[in-house]
Amino acid sequence: MDALPIILDCDPGHDDALAMILAAKNPALKLLGITTVSGNGGISKVTLNARRIATLANIDVPIAEGAGKSILGAFEEANDIHGESALDGAELPEPKIELSLLHAVDLIAKLIRESDKSVTLIATGPLTNIALFLKMHPGLKPKISEIVFMGGSASRGNRTPYAEFNIWMDPEAAEVVLQSGLPLTMCGLDVTHQALVTPDIFNELDKMNSKLSKIIIGLLKFFAKTYDEVFEMPDPPLHDPVAVALLIDRTVVKTRMVNVEVELSGTLTRGATVVDLHNRLGRSANCNVALELDRSKFWNLMLTAIRSC
Ligand code: RIB
Ligand code: CA
Repeated sequence: MDALPIILDCDPGHDDALAMILAAKNPALKLLGITTVSGNGGISKVTLNARRIATLANIDVPIAEGAGKSILGAFEEANDIHGESALDGAELPEPKIELSLLHAVDLIAKLIRESDKSVTLIATGPLTNIALFLKMHPGLKPKISEIVFMGGSASRGNRTPYAEFNIWMDPEAAEVVLQSGLPLTMCGLDVTHQALVTPDIFNELDKMNSKLSKIIIGLLKFFAKTYDEVFEMPDPPLHDPVAVALLIDRTVVKTRMVNVEVELSGTLTRGATVVDLHNRLGRSANCNVALELDRSKFWNLMLTAIRSC
């Protein structure tokens, strides 16, 4: 079977870094390019981190910098989780991968135009770049197979009691994506909180005994420390690679096709995804929502990708 052409839009970020590795190394996927969006850190930080991880893991694809603020101009870093650099916990190499001269939106458009097959967009940060792309290049929508995004939640949030960070950072962008009419798959906290980095995973990383695995252990130990401090979760959820893994093997998750909307005006709930699991509002289903994770299949894909670097 031909590899699936994908573009990864991300905000590295510890889990984004692992998503980059899985997206680049699994043979079922053809990573056309990486674009960055501010989220876990400011745009310069997350873009430098993307270039550093690409250098470390020998990921040689175009990398382009994207939006530094949300559509409405908001910006906040998640230093409490990802640290000052947005990727604290290990010494990372100086980047050898040059930055594209294109803006992220223009790189996405270029890669889709040049692809002889439809392209799947994977978003693991706020959806600002994806929304801007859809608005600026509507003519390219027919060449998008699907948008898979890590974001939202059918239950509680993590940035606020009911809003998940990526959606909370740019709810207007999420609205553009949710109303796009394109095939959508949402990997929210319901499924990503099943991708916990437990001691057995650290043991597997330890056994690899490579330069990359040692750096990943350092990064994930930092991620575990902050998650425990902030959320009392000693085993941190590796959110973003779930969005990549399901494109490699759809049985990694169990999904439900339901209506998903985003709250734009709630005083305390702005940025919350309203996932209508029992169709109580009678609105049309617009999104496949991942709710269950096959943990062993997920970790087998993730660990195999790290070993292959
Ligand atoms: O809420 C978790 C999401 O926000 C993940 O994508 C993490 O990297 C941050 O971007
Ligand atoms: Ca992310």
